[in-house]
Parts: sequence; structure tokens; C-alpha cells
Amino acid sequence: MASRVIPVDPFDLVIFGGTGDLARRKILPSLYRRYRDGQMPEDARVIGCARAELDDRSYRELVRAALEEFVAKRKRDPEMIDRFLQKISYIRLDATGTVGWKELAKSVRKGVIRAFYFSVGPGLFAALAQHLHQYKITDAEARIVVEKPFGHDLKSARELNSVLAQSFDERHIYRIDHYLGKETVQNLMAVRFGNILFEPLWNAQYVDHIQITVAETVGVAGRGGYYDKAGAMRDMVQNHMMQLLCLIAMEPPSVFDSDAVRDEKLKVIRALDPVAPEDLVRGQYRREGDIPSYQEDVGNPDSTTESFVAMEVHVSNWRWTGTPFYLRTGKRLRARESEIAIMFKDPPHSIFGRQEARSGNVLVIRLQPNEGMVLNVTIKEPGPGGMRLIEVPLDMSFAEALGEEGADIPDAYERLIMDVIRGNQTLFMRGDEVEAAWAWTDPIINGWEERGDLPLPYDPFSSGPEDALMLMHRKGRRWREISDDL
Ligand code: BG6
Repeated sequence: MASRVIPVDPFDLVIFGGTGDLARRKILPSLYRRYRDGQMPEDARVIGCARAELDDRSYRELVRAALEEFVAKRKRDPEMIDRFLQKISYIRLDATGTVGWKELAKSVRKGVIRAFYFSVGPGLFAALAQHLHQYKITDAEARIVVEKPFGHDLKSARELNSVLAQSFDERHIYRIDHYLGKETVQNLMAVRFGNILFEPLWNAQYVDHIQITVAETVGVAGRGGYYDKAGAMRDMVQNHMMQLLCLIAMEPPSVFDSDAVRDEKLKVIRALDPVAPEDLVRGQYRREGDIPSYQEDVGNPDSTTESFVAMEVHVSNWRWTGTPFYLRTGKRLRARESEIAIMFKDPPHSIFGRQEARSGNVLVIRLQPNEGMVLNVTIKEPGPGGMRLIEVPLDMSFAEALGEEGADIPDAYERLIMDVIRGNQTLFMRGDEVEAAWAWTDPIINGWEERGDLPLPYDPFSSGPEDALMLMHRKGRRWREISDDL
């Protein structure tokens, strides 16, 4: 299967925070891979901006080192890398002061798409937006890209939105949630709306419940400064998990375009019930043997921030009333695994008499690792001995089904950065969507604070606190195992 790569139009992409972690780990390697595949045109340029005393040559060396570290060896072509580096330059710039702005204004070209990536803390968004405006660096079609965390709560998100709105139209603001750029997440929409098979069953009449798990094995050492103020609720649930929930729960949009899709997602967020305290479990990993505890990792022995959260969530509308969504995410869990499992109900009547206890069909959408989908179906166990039923998976791992192309699934940032250049906002969050997500999240976090709830300790590399299991057990359900297998 030959891949079709359509080059985007020429652009100038300015990366504020050009020497930072995100730029080195994600943005620059993603641009290189798009260049290597022929999607970033020869006439595109990247301008890194930061406070460091660098020049073009030393910045290119920094970029080269980042590519060495973060691009797979088989994709590193020395000649290609040299050509890619020629498109990169550096401007020393002070976001809040005057240094570098005039030079930047002279550097960006007329007649090409201008994009400005705010790869910096939200505290600098206002200064960047104002300076871009003041120095007339943006034109009517300029795009800005902003990263999460988009605010800390509803109030701060509103403030950020209004600061950006002073200089930019909503249609020029690209709020990244990199989960939306993941290939399997987009596939979720293709599967739901590109097949007749699933949609008739996609509702409370046929779905018993839905499980969304984003489990990680890593701890938070090295990013305690940020994480300890955020916790799993702000870091993962308010954004990534909320987006997954929306894509599963939303009504079919009439077209796959940015406003139609985002309108439907917004309706889901607004239909979420407040979460009762008994439907929430917070956890924090403890020390075991040589594995440091969360508190040690963040260097705060009194921290009460959660590194794990599990909850039962209800979407109150015609489609979903009666079907709970179970969300769970955490650090230092048994395996790195993100999946969505649609747990269908049992058939209403068994014609086969008494069978050993069995569940209904399950559709698992696996985000990582080993992207793919599995549909568990019930069949007859082969061989003599009567009618015994077993469940077998109809397995579609993308790597196998799509051959080389499947194995070469692009990083979320590759897709998202190219969408910015193409001017396609479908996979970015709209301002009202982010605010609605905070409006639902805030009472949960405030409730913990007001009640003085402490997170429950859990062992590293476990499935989280026992109470998370009870959350399901009390309703006669159970979580799928966290494991590396699909
Ligand atoms: C980030 C969070 O947004 O997403 C991290 O800040 C988390 O805490 C990461 O580890 C997970 O992303 P991915 O793509 O590795 O699942």
C-alpha cells in the first residue's frame, strides 16, 4: 500500500521555547519526519526562539542532537538531516522584553503561512500574543499553537482565552491535545462513522458500560514542579481522557469538519453529571524497595496530590443514560497501556441452556502500545462434546493489517503540526470546549480540597488502589487487566 503524502503549502513556523523539552522531543523531530516523507516543502522554514545565547549554527547543532536522540535510527538519513537543518534558524528573544522582536518581524516572510508555536508556560502567552501584535509580526491568516496545560481551573482558562482573543480570532488559535493526533484516536471516528456495524449498537440499550484506561509505568521524577500542582485530574482527565470520552459518546456530526465535530463534543461535556464522592478514587504511589514514592519523586514529603484517579462518570442524555463510563489513569502502574473498551451487554436470552458465566461482546480500541482493535465474539468451542461456547478475539493490529505502513504510525505531533499549516482545526480544542471541561473538573478537585480527602497509597507497578477495583465490583463489574497484551 503506497502512502500518499501531499506536501503542505510553504510556511514559516516560529517556535517560542525553541530550546525546550517539547521542541527537542516532539516538535523538531516531527518536522524532520514530515520533511523526510516529503510533506514539509523545501520552501518551509523553522525559526527557533529562546533566551539562550545561540546563533544559527549552534542552534542547528542542538536540533541535530535532538534528532539523534528522538528520531528512530532507521529514519535518520544524514543527508536529509543536513538539508532539513538548512531550513532552521535561531533568534535570541525575550518574551516579556524587547530583545529579538524587531529581528523576528524582519525574518518572517510575506506570502507564506505564518505559524507561531507557544511552546512555553501559559504565564508567557499574554506577552507573546501582545508582542506579536505590537510588532505586526502576524498577518490576517497567522496561526498560533498553544500547549496544555490550558489553565489550571475554569477561571484561569477563561483568562487565557480572553488574553488570546485580544490578538487572535478563535479560528487562528490551535489548542493542542496530542491525544487527538494519535492515529488510533482518529480511527475511533473512522470505525464509528465509517461502518454501519457499530453505530446501531452504540447506546445504552446495547452497551453495558465503557472503560477508558490510560496507564503508565513511569513516575513523575524530573517534572515534580509541574505535576505536583496538577495531579492526574488536571494532567490527564480534564484533557486527554475527556477527549476520548467525547469521541466515544458524541452524536454523529453531519460532516467531519472542525465546528461540526467540536459542537458535538461540547454537547457531551455539557451533558456530564457531577461526579459523586463515592464514585471517585484518588491514589498516590508509595515507596517499594528501591522504587521511590511519589512524594520522594516530587520532593514534597507532605504532598497530597494524586498520581492515580478512577471514577464512574455518567453522560445524561438519551443515548447514554444507564451506561456508565469508567475512567482510570495513573503513573507507576503495572504496564504502559491505553485502551478504550466498549463492553456490550449479554444477549437477552441464551438458547444454549446454562452456560458457564460469560460476558457479552467487547470492542477494544488500543491506543498504545501495539495500536489496533479487537472485537471479542462468542463461538462454539471446536470439537465434539456438545455446544460449549468460548470467546475469541477478532484481532486487527494495525501493524499487521497494514504492513509496513501500519508499523510506521506517525507521531501525534506530526499530524497536528501539519494540520496547523493546512488550517484544519478539527483535531484541536475550541475555547468553549476547554472551559466546559474545566467547569466539570473544578467541582471534583474543589470537593477533594474542601473535604480534605487524602489519596490512597498504592504499590508501584500495581493496578492502583484496591478501592478502584471496588468502584466496579459493587456494581457487579470488573476492570480489564492492565497488561501489555491486546
Ligand atoms: C502528557 C502528560 O500530556 O501526556 C503526561 O502531561 C503524560 O503526564 C503524557 O505522561 C502521556 O502521553 P502519551 O502520548 O505518552 O500517552
